[in-house]
Amino acid sequence: MESEIWTEKFRPSRFSDVVGQEEIIKRVEALTNSLNIPHFLFAGPAGTGKSTLALIIVKELFKENWKENYLELNASDERGIQIVREKVKNFARTKSLGSVPFKVIFLDEADALTPEAQQALRRTMENYSATCRFILSVNYSSKVIDPIQSRCVLFRFKILEKKDIERVIKKIAETENLTIDQNSIEALYEGSEGDCRRCINLIQSTASISPDINSELISTILSSSKPKDIKIILDYALSGDFQKSREKLLDVMLKESISGEDIIKAIQKEIWNLPVEPELKVKLTEKTGETEFRIVEGSDPFIQLQSLIASFVLAGIGK
Ligand SMILES: Nc1ncnc2c1ncn2[C@@H]1O[C@H](COP(=O)(O)OP(=O)(O)OP(=O)(O)O)[C@@H](O)[C@H]1O
Ligand SMILES: [Mg+2]
Repeated sequence: MESEIWTEKFRPSRFSDVVGQEEIIKRVEALTNSLNIPHFLFAGPAGTGKSTLALIIVKELFKENWKENYLELNASDERGIQIVREKVKNFARTKSLGSVPFKVIFLDEADALTPEAQQALRRTMENYSATCRFILSVNYSSKVIDPIQSRCVLFRFKILEKKDIERVIKKIAETENLTIDQNSIEALYEGSEGDCRRCINLIQSTASISPDINSELISTILSSSKPKDIKIILDYALSGDFQKSREKLLDVMLKESISGEDIIKAIQKEIWNLPVEPELKVKLTEKTGETEFRIVEGSDPFIQLQSLIASFVLAGIGK
């Protein structure tokens, strides 16, 4: 197998290659063609095209000079707003190359910044507004302070629909000479939950076993990548053993240093593999969503997760 990563190989480089997000693409393309973009705030779930669209914008704006006029920063990597400001300052100091009178800065995971850091970011945006446009990418727009929101044009990216994911799957199948039947398309869509990155990774790992992709193969890949520990936590909870479930949870969080947000995502996914009635799955999913919201909003993850497993215990008793 070649060593290429398919999410990069199949990342769209033109507006017309992006699937879904039709309204966003229409408006962003028109603004880009006018060569005068505002600041953008891209909000939405993982793997739905936010970073991809930012890249398309700069490639369209600057053509072959795009690399010189584009700076990509990740707020959660940059250890504090001070570093972000330094990098922005250095980048913004020199004039843009070519006919577009500004440069573009993409700030990924801007919602990882504290409100204070966001205030500093807002001042940076103001200071360089003559020479720089910012594109901020976040999962939740509610975590962005109002003064930043009001300076940006907000676009809400949606989870990709089956027909969109299907387009991507067919394109990959054609290019890579894979056979993917309709059942496998369903399985890939289910397994990826509207996250295109996850879907492409799933195709690539399945294709590394065989070019004849079938739904059993996909299930094998899906189950081998699912965290055993999460299953153990949920099994204890559903069998009524709160104490053991809580111990295991603490173990996973401390020893393996997995964040509350990652645990909640894994739980969300695992619910669909639990041996319980569909109605109960829906109920547990709803609970999990509430917990995720609280953790994202800043509540203590361990307390929130304990309360979640307590509701799994109650659900297990009632089943
Ligand atoms: N709307 C889309 N159309 C076509 N391909 C897509 C789309 N969204 C995502 N992809 C594919 O998934 C990969 C990841 O997408 P992208 O980096 O744009 O996600 P993102 O929205 O920025 O996610 P994150 O919030 O995790 O940063 C891309 O390389 C591309 O191959
Ligand atoms: Mg991204």
